[in-house]
Amino acid sequence: MSQALDEIKIGGLGASRKRVEDNRFIRGKGNYTDDITLPGMLHMEILRSPLAHARIVSIDASKAWDIPGVHLVLTGEMMATRNLAWMPTLSYDTQAVLATDKVRFQGQEVACVIADDPYIAKDACEAIEVEYEPLPVIVNPTQAVAEGAPVIRDDKENQNSNVIFDWEVGDAAGTDRAFEQADVVSKLKLHYPRSHPSPIECCGSIADFNRATSKLTVYMTTQAPHIIRAAVALVAELPEHMIRIISPDIGGGFGNKVPVYPGYVCSILASILLERPVKWIEDKSGNLISTGFARDIYLDGEMALRRDGKILAVRMHCDSDHGAFFSDAQPSKFKIGLLHSAFAAYDIPVAHLSARGTYTNKAPGGVAYRCSFRVTEAMFFQERMVQAAADDLGMDQAEFRRMNFVRDEDFPHRTPFGFLTDSGQYAKCLDVGLKAVGYEDFRKKQAEARSRGRLLGLGISTMTEPLGAGNSREYDILGIKMFDSAELKIHMTGKAIVRTGAKTQGQGHETTWAQIVAHELGIPADDIVVEEGDTDTAPFGMGTYASRSTPVAGAAVAMVSRKIRAKARKLAAHLLEVSEEDVEWELGRFYVRSAPDRGVTIQECAMAAYSNMPDGMEPGLENTAYYDPPNLTWPFAVYIVTVEVDPETGVWDVLNMVAVDDCGVRINPMIVEGQIMGGLTEAYAMANMQFITFDADGNCVGSNYMDYLLPSAWETPGFELHSEVVTPCPHHPIGAKGIGECAAVGGPAAFVNAVLDALSGTGVRNIDMPLLPDRVWEAITYRRDVSGAPPVRSDD
Ligand code: CDP
Repeated sequence: MSQALDEIKIGGLGASRKRVEDNRFIRGKGNYTDDITLPGMLHMEILRSPLAHARIVSIDASKAWDIPGVHLVLTGEMMATRNLAWMPTLSYDTQAVLATDKVRFQGQEVACVIADDPYIAKDACEAIEVEYEPLPVIVNPTQAVAEGAPVIRDDKENQNSNVIFDWEVGDAAGTDRAFEQADVVSKLKLHYPRSHPSPIECCGSIADFNRATSKLTVYMTTQAPHIIRAAVALVAELPEHMIRIISPDIGGGFGNKVPVYPGYVCSILASILLERPVKWIEDKSGNLISTGFARDIYLDGEMALRRDGKILAVRMHCDSDHGAFFSDAQPSKFKIGLLHSAFAAYDIPVAHLSARGTYTNKAPGGVAYRCSFRVTEAMFFQERMVQAAADDLGMDQAEFRRMNFVRDEDFPHRTPFGFLTDSGQYAKCLDVGLKAVGYEDFRKKQAEARSRGRLLGLGISTMTEPLGAGNSREYDILGIKMFDSAELKIHMTGKAIVRTGAKTQGQGHETTWAQIVAHELGIPADDIVVEEGDTDTAPFGMGTYASRSTPVAGAAVAMVSRKIRAKARKLAAHLLEVSEEDVEWELGRFYVRSAPDRGVTIQECAMAAYSNMPDGMEPGLENTAYYDPPNLTWPFAVYIVTVEVDPETGVWDVLNMVAVDDCGVRINPMIVEGQIMGGLTEAYAMANMQFITFDADGNCVGSNYMDYLLPSAWETPGFELHSEVVTPCPHHPIGAKGIGECAAVGGPAAFVNAVLDALSGTGVRNIDMPLLPDRVWEAITYRRDVSGAPPVRSDD
């Protein structure tokens, strides 16, 4: 108990320490890419295609060149002379940097202008004359595979169709056999719509090539600076040690800032050509129309059930729309990310998933928006399917889940798709949630309200998510193994600096990494500074996405602290004049086992490392740890929502939402709560209001904040958070599991399930997100499912 109190005092594990980064953010002292001004800096703007699919007949940039203040106009043709018109993507595909032959989505980059200021550059973009010859447009996977469909990627040798991959996982024959034994087969078909991570800060870069030193420095909005450095070295054939990527403060990433965008590449080339710094800052429409979208996946599946409620098998198929270029960041081995983590929390003997990816005339999609590579889609389908199955069996939603959950005593558990889950208390989380929401009472109230024509509904969603890619045996991106790192330097006065290969974008790493060091070494968190995002100073790492920071970089912080403690123990033995075996450790202090009053603090050991080390010992107190996790971490959550639906208008209001998250040991409970609140808000937005789609001509509908809505505090319902279930991760050094994305992953199904529960008995099985009032009204009025798939022209 006293250790726990001491730990809270120094801001260690479990302390709800205020976020140290907020000191600068709330004072307007953040340092974002657009805040940086370099001497002699020029500005770049991008000309984008107005059409979704068209052949480029000609580009005439002469009028743009004539505008005073214009320094350079880049076109695909010029890029091609330097072999830079195309670049590799993170999924072994290629992507046009600037279009040469065709444009393949609305908003695609066609040319760039570099000028004295952004206004001149923008005007000059408008002066570029491009002649297009329109081509037929494809906006969904069904059209993409239809006979006679135009081949979008005719630039690729041997690409005769729009299919990118056909992939499968699981046991097809075993699943067939299980379906033959089923008493009931429950089916579900749905579309998880495109959504955009839409961080408040758009993407941008400042490239600064210095001919005198041959050094290229790029300030940019990237969640993975080291990967960008490697990509620049390989694509531009520049020496890696002469490239420095600096990712300053980032105003939200959510996966949007993982891919390599043409704007980054063009600003780098422009700086090399002009030998001046070149800044590119994307505008909001540019961000919404052309940078990495998420989801856009058609899921179709069925569940084999025994009459008593036991799930026997699951069969799933997905058609995934990747847009014009397959640029998803995901482990190389898995074509459709970790979609096959579906049903990991349920004890299902056998399953099969087939997945087909297609090109369409849309911006490249498939980024993992606050999710581990398609896990959001997996959990959404899982929980919608589970609700449909329970309804088909006439079983209680909670009871059906409880009877099929993996039980506490059955860990480690091999999921039907081959993942190994290692810990969890699923039924306990459900019980906490049901109690908090007043489940039995609500069901009575619901029945009573129904008799008076009022529609109340309750939706349950659970999720367990594989967080923390690697291990490196199974997880790599473009062959680069997934692990992470931390470097810790203890100065002679006992103050410290820790650097990791991760990159915070609002998650609070500057606060929580210091807490891990405080826990391991007893140095107050306020004495430790955290730095990330500069490839010249931070150790190599794979970056921050997929909630991998705590599971991997956070673990590396604990491991490097332990290396430091091991050396400090030797210093302590030297100072105390006893052998190392006689030295004991307590938070922040070594002491002699037989004389506990005789001790030295960690700060005294630090001073000794520079002033009084034993003969033969290497001076200094610093080290680096690379951490390759043995497994993913598997947090679990239960989200329960109650709603009332107005049958006259289709408008639905949230009455209550309860969230029970078990992410193992919480480093900073307040930050964890903030992560859950943010995730639930995004989940609510996706379920309720966020609409970004394409018309039959491939025009992006929703490319501004008037159409694509971000919920404010006004619209967002209140959330009741529960933290009483804690199942430490058995392999993480401090027992932590990831949390960043859990609520955004598991939340959407709870809202949708609640609205559909309110409509139970009407025969409506599915309404695609967002559950806009007109869709809900249509479902109620016509008693039919409502699809959200983008429309195709009737003559197509
Ligand atoms: O990779 P990312 O930072 O987005 O996600 P994360 O590792 O789940 O961490 C999000 C934030 O929550 C970080 O500041 C973590 O240190 C903190 N966290 C925590 O305090 N306790 C946990 N068990 C997990 C995360």
